[in-house]
Amino acid sequence: MASLKSHKLLVAAIDFGTTFSSWAYSFKHDYDKEPTQIIVKEWNSGIGISSKAPTTALIRPDGKTLHAFGYDAEDKYASLAQNNEHKDWYYFRRFKMALFKDMTLSRQTQIEDESGKKMLAMKVISLVILYLKDDLQKELASKITSAFSFEEEIQWVLTTPAIWNDKARSFMREAAIEAGIRNDQLLIALEPEAASVYCRHIPLETKSSDGRTSIVPLCPGTRYIVVDAGGGTVDITIHEVMEDGNLKEIHKATGGAWGGQEVDEAFKQFLINIFGNPVLQKFKLDAIDDYNGLFRDFEVKKRKSSPDGTAHLAFTLPVALLEIFQSETEETLTDVINQTPFAANIKVLKGNKLGLDSSLVRSFYYPSVRSVLEHLQVFYDNYETYGISVAILVGGFSESPILSCAIKDNFSSWKVLVPQDAGLVVLKGAVLYGHDQSTIVTG
Ligand SMILES: Nc1ncnc2c1ncn2[C@@H]1O[C@H](COP(=O)(O)OP(=O)(O)OP(=O)(O)O)[C@@H](O)[C@H]1O
Ligand SMILES: [Mg+2]
Repeated sequence: MASLKSHKLLVAAIDFGTTFSSWAYSFKHDYDKEPTQIIVKEWNSGIGISSKAPTTALIRPDGKTLHAFGYDAEDKYASLAQNNEHKDWYYFRRFKMALFKDMTLSRQTQIEDESGKKMLAMKVISLVILYLKDDLQKELASKITSAFSFEEEIQWVLTTPAIWNDKARSFMREAAIEAGIRNDQLLIALEPEAASVYCRHIPLETKSSDGRTSIVPLCPGTRYIVVDAGGGTVDITIHEVMEDGNLKEIHKATGGAWGGQEVDEAFKQFLINIFGNPVLQKFKLDAIDDYNGLFRDFEVKKRKSSPDGTAHLAFTLPVALLEIFQSETEETLTDVINQTPFAANIKVLKGNKLGLDSSLVRSFYYPSVRSVLEHLQVFYDNYETYGISVAILVGGFSESPILSCAIKDNFSSWKVLVPQDAGLVVLKGAVLYGHDQSTIVTG
């Protein structure tokens, strides 16, 4: 196969995810020495540094310019809301899935922001890509001191889910072009392919020789299933390692909308069961800052849940939520909880805290975990057809031991591997793919 190596000075990738997004890059001269030497954006989350930021966009009332992205967008919108100045602003969260669900997707497709205001999907997405592109270029400008223009020297890569149709993929390409990325400098990488490319570069398998354990890459002939479990979708593909180290696609990507945000959705449903939808809606409308805070707290806490943990997870209930609840009902919170199906699994604790049994938090995972297991079962049951011996779990949701242990327990003859920083594998793999597109051989 002809070499598909990039001759550009550097490769920059944008992973535009359902829940989280980020950018990363690497220079060609670094790639040639050590491919995994990739620089990833560091976002300030307010409580620490994180490699991804929430896919949240705050667009000014002019409907044309983006004011902030990520954690900054969430914080700025909350402060606007506090002063009741937010009504004319556009606030978009987790909007990527709208493209997946819309079969009539076109340049005219509109999406709704959190308060129901409409805007062209193309506008929102191109503004986000523009932001990420400019942010990356600003960092590069501070690193590259020579006078030459490096913009032409960038190979851009944008990731899309493999289960998206051609329409959705070309929609993303158009949005990137609108954001100022030249068509001939742009590659669209399929998320599980990018993940697979990255996994070719990192040691994965452990082998015992002479009583010692060494780590070796997957050997030729190995067929493995890549499970990219993100926030929105779980994408599944099967690849085989060839003699020359390249990859052959054995089965086209399949999957569905069973990502980590289903867990958040289950938590929201749980809150609705206790407080009722009108109270939760009013809470969101009146105190968006506290509303976001509750879900950010859940994001942190849910990552602590394990398949066999027994500890309670305590959530501080925002005062605003309790006040709205009390203005709507005569009953106490304990009375209301006692009427729900999970009364035995919740405790009202001192200091406006709710203690949730770990088994209850685990139950929030079950719908999405069940869907993933059902989907994988077919590939597991048909060894003669697929010949899979290894499963590589990537994507942020794979970092959950509840998901990875369920896969290990149910498919015990597979060797299940979860690379370090599983949530960054797609992004880093997209950079590697930009340097050398020949790694995946289709068919
Ligand atoms: N340790 C963890 N335990 C449980 N869930 C986790 C953990 N780490 C990340 N997640 C979840 O993984 C999801 C984010 O994964 P990722 O960043 O790969 O998704 P994404 O790229 O935004 O989505 P997609 O690829 O579907 O567009 C979120 O739902 C997040 O809550
Ligand atoms: Mg992703």
